[in-house]
Amino acid sequence: MPVFSQPDFDNHEQIIFGSDGESGLRCIIAIHSTRRGPALGGCRMRAYASEDEAVRDALRLSRGMTYKAAIADLPFGGGKAVIIGDPRTQKTEALLRAFGRFLESLDGRYITAEDMGTTVADMDVVRRETRFARGFSDGSGNPSPATAFGVFNAIRAAVEHRLGRGDLRGVRVAAQGLGNVGYRLCDYLAAAGAQVFVTDLRDEPVRRAVREFGAHAVAPDDIYDLDVDVFAPCALGAVINDDTLGRLHATVVAGSANNQLAEARHGEALRRRNILYAPDYVANAGGLIDVAYENAGHSQQTILKMVESISETLKRIFARADAENVATSVIADRLAEEKLRAGESATIAA
Ligand SMILES: NC(=O)c1ccc[n+]([C@@H]2O[C@H](COP(=O)([O-])OP(=O)(O)OC[C@H]3O[C@@H](n4cnc5c(N)ncnc54)[C@H](O)[C@@H]3O)[C@@H](O)[C@H]2O)c1
Repeated sequence: MPVFSQPDFDNHEQIIFGSDGESGLRCIIAIHSTRRGPALGGCRMRAYASEDEAVRDALRLSRGMTYKAAIADLPFGGGKAVIIGDPRTQKTEALLRAFGRFLESLDGRYITAEDMGTTVADMDVVRRETRFARGFSDGSGNPSPATAFGVFNAIRAAVEHRLGRGDLRGVRVAAQGLGNVGYRLCDYLAAAGAQVFVTDLRDEPVRRAVREFGAHAVAPDDIYDLDVDVFAPCALGAVINDDTLGRLHATVVAGSANNQLAEARHGEALRRRNILYAPDYVANAGGLIDVAYENAGHSQQTILKMVESISETLKRIFARADAENVATSVIADRLAEEKLRAGESATIAA
């Protein structure tokens, strides 16, 4: 299985394979960069179809974490762990503890947290074996509330830039996905006076959103066609693609979903349609900021202030994209790369 010649290989500093015969642990940790600090990124557990697929996921996701931490000005680099296995049937205490021991052996080069297939409760188990885990039930735990708050601020910044509006009263937002992040985001939006249109594959959160904050329910496939100001993808990646672009009426795209652009060129396609895109990894960094500062002794209020600063970062990106006539997604990457080259890190210790 070639690694260095994989398309997703991006001069990652280290790729480590770990296994434990007794518990059945098979994991891959990709450390993309420690230039700004220890590599931080969640641990994903999934029944990958092949080892190749698991390696690709680790390479791709760890690179994304480097960019997300850099642009959020965190004193961390980017890394990601993947555990190969079905989290519903193969996740045991023994496996999680073996994973924790493996992390400990890396002596802090990589710090883990929850991700798809792992939970806050799992991190409580992992930490029995290592100092290098975050996101516990007695700490910041679930990162979703901070992510939702960050996306709310991203929408505010984008609406101000594109619509010249300092508040969200009467602004129409179409939210795709009412999960951990989407539901809380819609709650914030409705409280700020926005008119919220919602969809989900599950009926229950849709009914609750209608009941609790007067959201308008639409069918999953209709969400792209609404006459709204903002489209907020909070479910899946790749929803900005050749099929959906022509359907969007929104002039702002800002949501929590990772990898919203099906391909990099769709960032430019949005710009050409005069749709302002809040790059996903900038808008959805609230959870990472929360987890990053969990052990640093800051109050929740201080952390929320840091999450709020996502809007300042976005305003800089929007202004530079306008000045250079370039897609916001391209500017975000450039800004992150500049920060990486400078190797500068935020002043607050990890
Ligand atoms: N949770 C976080 O802190 C966080 C941080 C960064 C990025 N993200 C990203 O944000 C997105 C949402 O995260 P989450 O934690 O809320 O996930 P979640 O699983 O809790 O919620 C996703 C919701 O989307 C719904 N959904 C799935 N497919 C859909 C479709 N085609 N149309 C409409 N609804 C659909 C699901 O039913 C579910 O309710 C994901 O892409 C995730 O990777 C989350």
